[in-house]
Amino acid sequence: MDIILLGPPGAGKGTQAHRLEDTRGMKQLSTGDMLRGAIAAGTEVGKQAKAVMDRGELVSDAIVSALIGEHLEEADKGAIFDGYPRTQHQAEALEMLLADRGRKLSHVIELKVDEDALVERICGRFSCANCGALYHETAKPPKVERTCDVCGSHDFKKRPDDNEETVRKRMAEYRAKTAPILPFYEEQGLVREVNGMGTVEEVAAAIDAILDS
Ligand code: AP5
Ligand code: ZN
Repeated sequence: MDIILLGPPGAGKGTQAHRLEDTRGMKQLSTGDMLRGAIAAGTEVGKQAKAVMDRGELVSDAIVSALIGEHLEEADKGAIFDGYPRTQHQAEALEMLLADRGRKLSHVIELKVDEDALVERICGRFSCANCGALYHETAKPPKVERTCDVCGSHDFKKRPDDNEETVRKRMAEYRAKTAPILPFYEEQGLVREVNGMGTVEEVAAAIDAILDS
């Protein structure tokens, strides 16, 4: 089953994608993670993407669709598209990438959230520098202080684009370029709304109900 998790920055896409990987053997395909990986590795794509991401703007459609194409085979038990597609071009590119492999989307899960709450969520976010597990200073701190629940590492990091000014820009990009792709999926009867303002567990239960229906 291939699904999209769609929602603005901080909606909980990554948090829920990690959980679906653990519980269902699906594979998260996050263009944001792929781009951060390219930056860390110092590749040409990473060099082009870094300044764009630091400003909170969108990286080119050609770059991100190529990244998804490169990683799609890793998700043969089902892909969770996280942060992709973000424009109409990307939505059309994804349709072709899937069709070429005899696959099609089962659901587009729209995480509905209150944007003011998102700034709080994002500014409190940090992750394990070793395994990538996601945390929040108040909503989801590690069970033992400064120790990753998953791998036991004591090394944590914050994203450079997780400051209020850049988050506001990322939200504006979402409203201008990403929310307008919803009608494309609504016409196909694929969109399912989930209230993203509940706890992590409540959101997870709502997503499970859709995937099991
Ligand atoms: P990307 O990495 O995709 O970031 P994003 O879309 O801005 O989303 P986030 O990762 O910030 O949020 P999330 O929804 O995953 O929330 P999370 O689960 O972490 O993109 C970054 C940049 O890369 C873009 O700005 C762009 O430049 C570029 N890019 C990426 N893809 C692209 C594309 N396709 N095209 C063009 N450019 C692209 O949760 C956030 C926090 O809240 C965490 O601390 C978490 O613990 C907490 N939390 C989660 N759920 C809850 C809950 N229910 N209650 C309370 N707290 C919660
Ligand atoms: Zn860890």
